Amino acid sequence: MKHLLSPLDMNVDELENLLDLAKDISLDPKKYSHYCDGKKLATLFYEPSTRTRLSFEAAMLNLGGSVLGFSSADSSSAAKGESVSDTIRVISCYADICAMRHPKEGAPMVAASKSGIPVINAGDGGHQHPTQTLTDLMTIRELKGSLDNFTIGLCGDLKFGRTVHSLINSLIRYKNVKFILISPKELRVPDYIRDDVLKGNNIEFEEVEKLEDVMPQLDILYMTRVQKERFFSEDEYVRMKNFYILDKSKMEMAKPDMYVLHPLPRVNEISVEVDDDPRAAYFKQAQYGVYVRMALILTLLGLN
Ligand code: NCD
Repeated sequence: MKHLLSPLDMNVDELENLLDLAKDISLDPKKYSHYCDGKKLATLFYEPSTRTRLSFEAAMLNLGGSVLGFSSADSSSAAKGESVSDTIRVISCYADICAMRHPKEGAPMVAASKSGIPVINAGDGGHQHPTQTLTDLMTIRELKGSLDNFTIGLCGDLKFGRTVHSLINSLIRYKNVKFILISPKELRVPDYIRDDVLKGNNIEFEEVEKLEDVMPQLDILYMTRVQKERFFSEDEYVRMKNFYILDKSKMEMAKPDMYVLHPLPRVNEISVEVDDDPRAAYFKQAQYGVYVRMALILTLLGLN
């Protein structure tokens, strides 16, 4: 049985197959509308979510399957003190596959070790978010034609932003991808990303504070929100939250084919005036999220 707990659970070939399948689905979603007839997806969300949970649900419904689950810890037996291990043992009797989001790093891994069904990590604390990474990879591949040879700027909360950690982990496996990490000192990537993932694999990267300085070099700009819920003090969050605001004047400094991605939700880090720029790709990215999750469900259930 296969799970998806980290983006590295799939090698580059497996990823390519999955992205090819997602692409095929995007061209004709109706072709796949009965692949999961009679199958059930459980969405176990112990933390808030809009896109991830609903795109998983949409994905399963598009495949002809059904969904069940909960969308907050207090509406589940976690509120009574049930462990994740016990919950997943029970859910394994009710569903064929499950997507789990949890505020504690590693919770989906614990669940997978006791599970009778494939477990998908839909975000664990400030750690990883592999299905957002699949979405990001599909978006980059669709926009740029390949996952090799580009410079990506990752901007904002690189410390707590789990989508950033998963994306860096994945992209280092492709050829000639250069990273520019743009953040205030306080929100730089965790040491394990800098030392083990980037330096440890001889990947070209730099860390800068000012977005303006690097804008002309970028092929992709990956914006992120400051992760309010992971801060220890409100004052600290307030000091950081307006650090970066991408607006029209900054977009003018960028290449004509530099695309802007954002996992969403956006707070104020991308001004709404940028939405009409043809290089703003974040809403398209959200649409790709449904196709990759359809492809992932099919792959983990062995129905592809
Ligand atoms: C992200 C997450 O949950 O980490 N959202 C998402 O799944 N698209 C990003 C975020 O919350 O900032």
